[in-house]
Amino acid sequence: MKPFYITTPIYYVNDRPHIGHAYSTIATDVLTRFAKVRGRPTRFLTGLDEHGLKIERRARELGKEPQAFVDEMATPFQEAWKALNCQHDDFIRTTEPRHKERAQAIFQRMVEAGDVYEGEYEDWYCVGCESFKLERELLEGNVCPDHKKPCERIKEKSYFFRLSKYGPKLLEFYEAHPHFVAPQGRYNEVKSFVAEGLRDLSISRTSFKWGIPVPGAPEHVMYVWLDALTNYVTALGGPAEPGEAPLYDRFWANPESQVVHIVGKDILRFHAVYWPAFLMSAGLRLPSQIQAHGWLTINGEKMSKSLGNFLPPVPLAEAVGVDVLRYYLMREVGFGYDGDFSHKNLVARYNGELANGLGNLLNRILPFVEKHFGGVIQPLDEPGELEIELREAARKAAFEANRHLEEVLPHRALDAIWELVAFANRYVDRTEPWKLSKNGDERALARCTTAIIEALAAVSVMAWPFMPGKCDLLRAQIGLPPLEPEEGACMWPFEPRETVAGKKVVKGEALFPRIDAKAEAALLEKLGVKPAEPAAPKDEAPKAKLADEPSKLAEPEGGYITFDDFAKVDLRLGLVRSAEPVPKSDKLLRLKVDLGEAEPRQILAGIRQRYAPEAMVGRRVVVVANLAPRKLLGFTSQGMVLAVGDGDAFSVLGVEGEIAPGSRVS
Ligand code: MSP
Repeated sequence: MKPFYITTPIYYVNDRPHIGHAYSTIATDVLTRFAKVRGRPTRFLTGLDEHGLKIERRARELGKEPQAFVDEMATPFQEAWKALNCQHDDFIRTTEPRHKERAQAIFQRMVEAGDVYEGEYEDWYCVGCESFKLERELLEGNVCPDHKKPCERIKEKSYFFRLSKYGPKLLEFYEAHPHFVAPQGRYNEVKSFVAEGLRDLSISRTSFKWGIPVPGAPEHVMYVWLDALTNYVTALGGPAEPGEAPLYDRFWANPESQVVHIVGKDILRFHAVYWPAFLMSAGLRLPSQIQAHGWLTINGEKMSKSLGNFLPPVPLAEAVGVDVLRYYLMREVGFGYDGDFSHKNLVARYNGELANGLGNLLNRILPFVEKHFGGVIQPLDEPGELEIELREAARKAAFEANRHLEEVLPHRALDAIWELVAFANRYVDRTEPWKLSKNGDERALARCTTAIIEALAAVSVMAWPFMPGKCDLLRAQIGLPPLEPEEGACMWPFEPRETVAGKKVVKGEALFPRIDAKAEAALLEKLGVKPAEPAAPKDEAPKAKLADEPSKLAEPEGGYITFDDFAKVDLRLGLVRSAEPVPKSDKLLRLKVDLGEAEPRQILAGIRQRYAPEAMVGRRVVVVANLAPRKLLGFTSQGMVLAVGDGDAFSVLGVEGEIAPGSRVS
């Protein structure tokens, strides 16, 4: 099986870990665990970026020596990943000797390739980005558009890397590797940046000391991004000759190995342009994929210290549970797109999808196994039509979730898994085990309980990369051992299913106890989240019910409508199955929306400016289902998706929880 080597960015230690860092690290952990379940040899690397002007200045501001400062700051990161159950295989710090030596070796290889020359630099530099900036990239007053702080004018002696020479080679490489960067939109940006022509890059600094000395020229320190990017190779013991560094041989030099870098969109250029060029120059292999994710806002606002919403992940995980936080982050945010972390949505998803969805499925079925079969799961030798359908739904979920995880779309994998959970809950509604129990129909009850437990077993494997702790608890309740992936053994539940018959269920505590309004208020208070504004101040609230005093309300413009008028509008819940942009339109998305009918409907929605197609898939939306079909830009729209607001404050109307597609909105 192909080895899988995956990395997070190495984080700057000038600040403590926040939810954005946690998002990257959790995604990387999920993908590693998935590869493990598929039986692949894996290696997960994370670490810290400890050099550079930004860190040096921060240390000095605090009156500390840079080394003492970075040593102190490393601990909260190590503790955070442990608390979030992110099991990295290595944690590299760029101040470690093992890194410094090999980073220098890479520099040396670039020199030997004839790609480094001495010169003098004069340009704008943003210390926040640790990057030189083109004048045309800056805002008025030479302000960096990302950090909103003025750039510094820097003039100093420097070594340069002949990046310009690598432009054509990079373009050729991109052409030959159409999936090198995801999402595609960002790949296109990278390609145009390179196609516009690359300038040579300054790769050393002489005006400060906090960095790795350039080999043979110790008055220079290596540019912090060159130093940092090489961590992906140095942590494996590379560059090295075959046989010298087994990890490097297996995970990097080996052309079979799949090397994936997970990065935020802001650092894509460094990974997709500079890093491959450095590697080409040093004669080393290139990574297989750079997966760029979006940025998180917090309750709709940019995260920043000044807004007081800098969100550290550990207290949050302690309050809501590690697995719940992992699940929420991976489900809420479409990988590759910006997303919002909202405490309210977290609770809503928890109650809808975890408590009512998965937890409830387990609770609904175990008591019958205990009551009728002494807790022993019965064989399912003669599945009926409904059981065959359920098995088919599980098989489909396994294939889809696998495909989405291979394509690094964890949110879509969760959609596929939760479709199975919803399907299984519907199966329970249809088979009504409580009636079978009352009537003493044990044959049918055996079929029903085992069919559900089979589905739960499949979910416990597929959801394990996201929620390892909860899935092992779920497995314990259905008599299965904790999941222990082994190299070479694929455990993904494609087929055959795990044998559950003969195992004994052990009903334990509720996996996901519901969070009621009181508990939610207490949780939000504990987390310091402001309660939502009340809808209207108390003294303005209507004193009597609408039906008692209709005349006191001003009649709406256009007059009242009767209930029958309202009932003419057939509002339905729709589940978006697919979404793609409509060619020649910057407003429209073409959606396929499941309304519980034989075929999903095609609906065109003017939401493209606010929603990326990926972000729509899997959403439950409100649809006007009986609107006359209408042709737009060559496509027939068979309904309308409701939305509210305009500009940035714009949202499609959604629905919480696993309500079945086609349900009537009333
Ligand atoms: N040290 C460099 C990376 C070097 S990799 C060879 C760096 N560090 S960082 O600490 O500033 O950022 C690390 C990662 O955190 C980046 O991928 C960045 O996109 C991500 N995030 C920072 N804030 C974020 C959010 N608000 N949301 C999601 N991710 C964000 O850059």
